[in-house]
Parts: sequence; C-alpha cells; structure tokens
Amino acid sequence: MFLTDLWYFGACSQQLEPGALLPIELLGQPVLVGRGFDGVAFAMRDICPHRGILLSGGRLVEKNGETQVECPYHGWRFGTDGQCAFIPSLTDEQAAHTELSKISNQRFHVREQQGLIWIYQGKNQPADDPISLDLVGNAAPKLITSTVFDCHVDHAVIGLMDPAHIAFIHRQWWWRTEKSVHEKAKKFGPVPNGFSMLPHIPSSNSFLYRLLGAKPETEIRFQLPGIRVEYIRIGEKYVVGFTAVTPMNAKQTKITIVAFWDHPIVSLFPKWLIRKALDVFVGQDRDAVNAQQKGLAYQPNLMLIHDADVQAKWYFALKKAWETSQKTGTVFVNPVPTKTLKWRS
Ligand code: FES
Ligand SMILES: [Fe+2]
Repeated sequence: MFLTDLWYFGACSQQLEPGALLPIELLGQPVLVGRGFDGVAFAMRDICPHRGILLSGGRLVEKNGETQVECPYHGWRFGTDGQCAFIPSLTDEQAAHTELSKISNQRFHVREQQGLIWIYQGKNQPADDPISLDLVGNAAPKLITSTVFDCHVDHAVIGLMDPAHIAFIHRQWWWRTEKSVHEKAKKFGPVPNGFSMLPHIPSSNSFLYRLLGAKPETEIRFQLPGIRVEYIRIGEKYVVGFTAVTPMNAKQTKITIVAFWDHPIVSLFPKWLIRKALDVFVGQDRDAVNAQQKGLAYQPNLMLIHDADVQAKWYFALKKAWETSQKTGTVFVNPVPTKTLKWRS
C-alpha cells in the first residue's frame, strides 16, 4: 500500500516547541511527534501499549533530566526511545519484580534539518547519510500551509505533477489564461530517488514569474516518497517551494507547502497574501482530486497518454523499482532516463 524504508515528512520544526506533543497520522497509523525539554524531536506510535488510549492526550514530563511521555489514562511513562520507564500503580515490591525493559512502545527514527522534521518508516535501520534534499543552506522556512486531499497518495502525487491540468484547474489572471497555452519542451533527468525538470528559463505565460524580474531560472525536482521542490533562482536570490505529499491513510493525503525565499520582491508581499494565493492554488488541486474520487469509485480503466503523462509513468516506475530493491535486497536503480518531454500547457 505504501513505500517503506524511506523518510517521510512529519511536521515543521516551528510547529513543535520544547515540551510539545503533536499527533499526526502517517501511513495509516497514529504517530506522536514530540520535542523533549532538551530540544530534541522524537516520534513514537501514538497508542499506549497498556490499554490503547492515544498517548497524545497525555503530557511530557521531565525526570532526572530526561523527557518522558506520560499516558493520560493510568500515567505509565515512556522515554523518548519508547521504553517504559514508570508504572505508577505498582507497589515497591511489584516494581522490583517487573521488568520494565520488556515493555516498550514502537518508536520511529527522526531527523530534523532545515526546519523540517522527517520520520523514518521501515523495518530496516535508516542509512547514516543525510536526506538528500538540496534546499537553501540553513535558511528557516518563511511560510507554511497545508491541506488534506481525500485521495490515495498516488492520485495526489500525479495530480500535482501533471502539466496538462494547469490551464484548466488553475485558470486565473495571475497564473494562466486560456490564451497563454502554448507548446513546451522541457528536459528531464534522474536525481537521487526521483527526477528533475532540469534548470531552465520558465515559460513566459506566468505573470508571477515576470514579476520576479530578469531571467529567473527554475528547476523542479520530484523524489520518493512524495517530495516536490521547485527552485527559482534570480541571480543570487532564490525562491524555493517545498511540497510534501504525505499519506495519512489509504484515502487521505496531507499536502504541506513550505516556502523559503530571500528575494526582495517576494518580501514586499504580506505573508497572508502569499499564503492565500498558495491556498487558492492547492485548493484548486484538492477540489479536482476530490471530485475525481467520485468517478474513481466505479473503478474505471485509466489512461496515461503521451509526454504530458510521462512524469506520472516515471512516478509509478520509481515506486516499482523501489519495491523491487526492497524485496530483493538489491541496490535501487533509478529507471528515469534523461529525456525532453513536449506538451501544450
Ligand atoms: S492506557 Fe496508558 S497507562 Fe493505561
Ligand atoms: Fe495543480
């Protein structure tokens, strides 16, 4: 159902103060993301091993300098590694005979970099190398927004990467108009775990690109499991849009957009206006994908046709190659070629 042995986007750093708990749903499981009093983020299954209540209803406590999650029901405590540390109902004698080390909650590996918190999903240990995501140094996110699509992650991913819907779903004066549709040719190539629409001068049919001034250069990358990053470089300045497409369960997918920039023209706009524009934009995708579910409920045969749908084909090929490498224990071989795709949009 979902790809494993991968890092999934969990939350943004700024959503989690020290001592805070954040419940999320990831790959059909409730996950508790927290930040210890020492500032270190952690994640564990959000289900108490005792009697199954959600741990996120509890609180974080500090004991001998260590952060512990306290269950709201009977007060069992767990270290941030998921290990049971305390059962309040035990008498001294019972406690002496109870091996707390045999009681633990499933914990997940967490990495935090560039203002983003990543949660590892998989049976194998994650590799030591950093998550290959070339954002913008250590710049903090300037803006975050999110929404939920009522669909399986595959439809959210291919719905966001598909170029042919733009002139229909996103028809608005500041982005695309009916008349602005023209033939395009874009060169693509493989990147770690995905593919890139290689750096190019973007189409002149967007008012927003024109606003950024002299010759912006754009690159759009997609990486498994569902990460899209759009880089716009204007001389020394940049605007970067990071989108995480994260499966909550088989029928809901969370879309989180995080923007980074140091471009003075973008800074002139109030953030609420930029967020509003992003919400309108991604809301149009959400409405389309949600409407699509009504047709998909009848399990029609679907088509992927010509170059406009090749990115979707690559996504499925990447998934298949990933699953094959997991099953056979072999090295992942990226199936994406270097290729120019042509379409009208
Ligand atoms: S259900 Fe959590 S301590 Fe009992
Ligand atoms: Fe879209």
